[in-house]
Amino acid sequence: MDFGEKYAQYSNEFNGALNEFCARLDCRPQILAESLKYSLNLGGKRIRPVLTLAVADLLGVERRKVMNFALAIELIHTYSLIHDDLPEMDDDDFRRGKPSNHKVFGTGNAVLAGDGLLNTAYSLLLKECKNGTEFISAAEYICDCAGVYGMIAGQSADLMHENDESYNEKTLDFIYENKTGKLLVAPIVVPSILCGGRCFSELKAFGKDLGLLFQITDDVLDVEGSFEKLGKSLGKDGKEGKYTSVAVYGLNGAKLRADVLAERCRTLLEGIDGDAGFLLQFVDFVRSRKA
Ligand code: IPE
Ligand code: IPE
Ligand code: MG
Ligand code: MG
Ligand code: MG
Repeated sequence: MDFGEKYAQYSNEFNGALNEFCARLDCRPQILAESLKYSLNLGGKRIRPVLTLAVADLLGVERRKVMNFALAIELIHTYSLIHDDLPEMDDDDFRRGKPSNHKVFGTGNAVLAGDGLLNTAYSLLLKECKNGTEFISAAEYICDCAGVYGMIAGQSADLMHENDESYNEKTLDFIYENKTGKLLVAPIVVPSILCGGRCFSELKAFGKDLGLLFQITDDVLDVEGSFEKLGKSLGKDGKEGKYTSVAVYGLNGAKLRADVLAERCRTLLEGIDGDAGFLLQFVDFVRSRKA
């Protein structure tokens, strides 16, 4: 099976679980349920759940142990996108090729849809905690990655540094490690936490570099991508005065940095005991992605 087929297999498997989850979600009023399902079902690449399933296979961890964690992380990621697109944040009208949540349901409902997804994710995580100490550790890890020592901190710094032109690499790394990196490290290390920490440090280091690489390719695509493939507006970072890798290193510098990070990711995978073939190809997929 080639990389594309394997990726599709993992994402279809995850979408099956997500569809079941959505079918059970019948909160009221109807607009609340609709707005949650709208963003969850818009599509998206599902890179986080694909990574969780791939690492679970690599480490020999059963599906039933990881699926609710993969769901919780995708719910948290989707909430972060809904809030990220709000007029008071990045003010983006399109997401995943469709109008952003607030363009369809209004800002108030979009705030609540994000809150609702986060709360529902935490409820899924809490239920998993009943399964044993390693499940508690995995849930705790995800909460830290999503919260004020993780994604929220990165988003806060991202806002704080809008229109800041005193560029330096440390500030950029802080923003990227947190706003993007932590929610990529979590899906990669969760299967390891669930099997007693096998390859934990190696996977964590890999996830951290993959997160930086992923955000840099996102910045490059904001400059030279296509709306049809990306499903989001282009040229927004420059317009909003965002503190990005393109602003700090220039477009070519950002691409060079992406090459260095991709190479570092490949080297880190060599230290992993097991068949890391899919993850190796995943690095190339992220480096050369157009969507
Ligand atoms: C977008 O994430 C936000 C960033 C971290 C750059 P994705 O590119 O994974 O978004 P979807 O889930 O595929 O829409
Ligand atoms: C978003 O970074 C990171 C999170 C949503 C946490 P961006 O603002 O660059 O993501 P896009 O470009 O809107 O997808
Ligand atoms: Mg943003
Ligand atoms: Mg944005
Ligand atoms: Mg972006």
